[in-house]
Amino acid sequence: MAKSKLAQVPAEHLPVHIGLIMDGNGRWAAKRGLPRTAGHKKGAEVFGEIARHCRKIGIRYLTVYAFSTENWKRPADEVEALMKLLYQYLNDTFKHQDEDARICFLGDPTPLAPKIQQLMQRIQQESAANTAITVNVALNYGGRDEIVHAARRLAQQCVQGSLTPEQIDEPLFSDYLYTAGQPDPDLIVRPSGELRTSNFLPWQAAYAELVFMDVLWPDFSPAHLEEAILQYLTRTRRFGGI
Ligand code: FPP
Repeated sequence: MAKSKLAQVPAEHLPVHIGLIMDGNGRWAAKRGLPRTAGHKKGAEVFGEIARHCRKIGIRYLTVYAFSTENWKRPADEVEALMKLLYQYLNDTFKHQDEDARICFLGDPTPLAPKIQQLMQRIQQESAANTAITVNVALNYGGRDEIVHAARRLAQQCVQGSLTPEQIDEPLFSDYLYTAGQPDPDLIVRPSGELRTSNFLPWQAAYAELVFMDVLWPDFSPAHLEEAILQYLTRTRRFGGI
């Protein structure tokens, strides 16, 4: 791409954590008369390009929505193709070690195929000490489901007597989410023209700046990412203050 428009921006002004809702793969494919899976395939390549670009410009945390708890409602062959693609892309194509990227998975892995669960464990272990960027892949992730899981674990501890209800506060609750120990997203970007966040990080994104863009995910480029960051930089963040 042309010279980065962010070159003059001091590093401390950049968002620390960006969330991306990778939407529009199906429409991108339909516009070209291709099967929906062709859109997901291009979408996976774009994920790699954007993750590398985030690292290059100094973004420390990136979270991408790869498969939601609601995506099981899709036809079985699309779900199967998406799972295969995720496996192949994360196993063979995206070189997390070369990128010095720590990969974390957000979501409930238990309904996923054992082969995928093993891959997730291996990648998380292999990349745990990487420091350039943390890439969270939300896989079988749902924000409400995440909150229910956290509440259930906290309730169990109360029943066992290792915690009292009064000890439960916002920082403790955050520690029971899949993003425990990570900063909340500063910026959430949704391409594809849809104006909603679809159960993506509802707790963590309480104060995130939202940028919606009229481009389908397979056409999303580093220039679009930079445009979203430039929009973010024009916002005044008050976190409830004045
Ligand atoms: C939403 O577009 C996209 C998904 C449900 C899948 C996202 C997955 C990828 C981009 C593939 C791989 C990701 C990684 C991390 C390797 P849609 O199908 O709902 O599009 P539509 O709204 O146009 O139908």
